[in-house]
Amino acid sequence: MATILTTPEQVATALADAPSMPVPNAMLMVTPEYFSVDYIINPHMEGNIGTVDKNEARWEWEVVRDKFRNFGLNVHEIPGQPELPDMVFSANQSLPYIDSKGNKHVIMSIMHSSHRKDEVPFLEQWYRRNKYNIHYLNPENVSDFEGMGDAIWHFKKKLLWGGFGYRSSPNAYEQISDKFDVPVVMLELKHPEFYHLDTCFCVLNAESVLICPPAFTDEGLELIHAGFKNVIKAPEVEARSLFACNAACPDGRNVVIQKGCKQVNHMLKNHGFAFHEVNTSEFLKSGGSVFCMKLMLW
Ligand code: ARG
Repeated sequence: MATILTTPEQVATALADAPSMPVPNAMLMVTPEYFSVDYIINPHMEGNIGTVDKNEARWEWEVVRDKFRNFGLNVHEIPGQPELPDMVFSANQSLPYIDSKGNKHVIMSIMHSSHRKDEVPFLEQWYRRNKYNIHYLNPENVSDFEGMGDAIWHFKKKLLWGGFGYRSSPNAYEQISDKFDVPVVMLELKHPEFYHLDTCFCVLNAESVLICPPAFTDEGLELIHAGFKNVIKAPEVEARSLFACNAACPDGRNVVIQKGCKQVNHMLKNHGFAFHEVNTSEFLKSGGSVFCMKLMLW
């Protein structure tokens, strides 16, 4: 039975009751040798076709990878593939999950854009080799679902926040909730520049989230406030042009973030977080930054 939480009261109760989930200890990244902007499927890509500096992209990617390695995460690398320039955004092709017995599962995405559909089997091969239980959405009921770009686990809790509107459909969350027996809070995205939930919503720890409010409906904002005691609001300019909310906080304390997010860094510091700046300038041209260049898993 799917559990979709639609009121602030339901969210608060579900979080109080939610079983705990371990913090992910590993990361999956796709190497960037074929990364480029070859087509336009989000507003950030406009004007950027053919402008990616491949050497700079490789360098930036390695710095991001090494940052996470320094936090003690085991980083797995999957080779990028020719003609799949967006495959480097490894948050999008799947949603991993660990059950209460410690068994590893994954749901494979159904990419929204035809340009990105062929990426998924390469990730699936990796999960197969690594003995994950692989699950699929029923394509008869679900037209699209873009993995952890839109579906984000609450920190250390078995509860999922699910964005929909541009790249993922509400039906996907019904199936995921049913398959994994996990409650889902759906958040409608209403601003094309914040086309994935991870562009405007960054879970920092069990009580704190960094969001860009204009990306959400009023109902969505109420649900977010019911789920987190501290809702840190990124100024729209830093969220839009520097992808401040596409940061990553793997351990509930250290935040890896695109450099230059001055106001957000100030707010993070005031809330007791440490920030670590990296440059993802080449990936911003494609509408992505730190969070979507990697996938957290167990
Ligand atoms: N160019 C890619 C796309 O539009 C960027 C994906 C970034 N991923 C993310 N989870 N925000 O699909």
